[in-house]
Amino acid sequence: MTVESIEAVLDEEARRRLQTLAYEISEQGALRSPPWRRVFTTVRRHVFLPRYLQDEQPGSIPPRWRLVEGANPDDHDEWLTSVYSDTTLIVDLKGQPIPPERGGGSHPIVTSSSTMPSLMMRMLEDLDIQDGHRVLEIGTGTGYNAALLCERLGDTHVTSIDIDPELVAAATRRLAAHGYRPHLVAADGIAGLSDHAPYDRIIATCSVERIPYAWIAQTRPCGRIMVNLRGPLMRSALALLTVHPDGTASGPLLSEGAIFMPLRHDPSAPYDYTVRITRPATDPTNGVTTLDPASLHHHAAWGFFAQTCLADAAFRLVTADDDETRLGTEIATPDHSWAIIWHDRRDGCYPTSQAGPRRLVELLERAHRHWSALNEPRWDSFAVAVTPTGQWVSYRHPDNTSLRWELPLPAPVP
Ligand SMILES: C[S@@+](CC[C@H](N)C(=O)[O-])C[C@H]1O[C@@H](n2cnc3c(N)ncnc32)[C@H](O)[C@@H]1O
Repeated sequence: MTVESIEAVLDEEARRRLQTLAYEISEQGALRSPPWRRVFTTVRRHVFLPRYLQDEQPGSIPPRWRLVEGANPDDHDEWLTSVYSDTTLIVDLKGQPIPPERGGGSHPIVTSSSTMPSLMMRMLEDLDIQDGHRVLEIGTGTGYNAALLCERLGDTHVTSIDIDPELVAAATRRLAAHGYRPHLVAADGIAGLSDHAPYDRIIATCSVERIPYAWIAQTRPCGRIMVNLRGPLMRSALALLTVHPDGTASGPLLSEGAIFMPLRHDPSAPYDYTVRITRPATDPTNGVTTLDPASLHHHAAWGFFAQTCLADAAFRLVTADDDETRLGTEIATPDHSWAIIWHDRRDGCYPTSQAGPRRLVELLERAHRHWSALNEPRWDSFAVAVTPTGQWVSYRHPDNTSLRWELPLPAPVP
């Protein structure tokens, strides 16, 4: 077969699989409108994903990655099936240094992926993108979403930024090969892109702890921003903000769960997940709590509420110095308050140690009582508000009693 006829067979196979996938994600309610259905069934995802990395043993540390390549005859069927499945596919890893005390070396961390199609389409549909809109995407990655936007709006209406110049170069090539020429830039998307502002819509496909105010300043009044808001426990939710004429923005957190990789500032390195905690020199006081610390990590709605109430806290899992099997959750805040809640239950309670000006275990217990009294709300019971000087997550209660928590100021950009 000639190269052209191989491509034609692949294109026909892709068309058939795209129709099936479009049907599946329409049934889920992710793909809803005729314009996006046309776009979704037109843009070939395999073009933007010539290869991806498969985690051979999910959950194993470190993960074992295997490259799956469309051009490799042994991988071809697996590749095509994955590309046209409703799955997130990992496309880039970078090494994060392991501290010498933990053995040194480096550990590969995911730095780019192609988002699962149903989530991508849900975000695009929820953004209510209309003909003539100008859209900024933060996180070009493979270029697949930029292609969807170009197919929907035309190249001149689409700008996309990625921190990684190599990803931007590859996406530029693949987009151009299929006739799409959006404005692509390799830069830190935290500053948006003022050259092409104002935008009607901004979509961020990486997560942030605070919404960069530049994104609001670069969006037209009544424009919308879709972003994944993440807290210190790595619990995240999609926020759909509307920008107001006075330069503020507000909007709900959406019900669909979503976890995007964090926005990072170093193009050659992954986001640094290392949690730095200094234990205070003062002797801690020991006590107990009935609050199960594992629930912070395993119960998404409670974890989200806890990180909202303790927005300036750092959380990490630790093991005891004298017993590697004994797990604890360590919490610290910038005012040198510190606590550990051990995971081993004794007589219905969990041992604690804490020091510093704030009693973090009691604050966490109070947050848990509050969450129970509110009937254990999920993140979609909350909304976000942003002004030039502050950002808040607030509780949307049917009787309009609103409670709100301020998000911490951003760490300085290195
Ligand atoms: C989930 S991937 C994006 C998927 C992409 N939209 C697609 O269709 O393939 C997240 C991307 O965000 C990028 N990113 C991380 N930090 C960034 C930053 N500060 N500015 C711009 N892009 C960033 C990563 O390099 C990565 O490619």
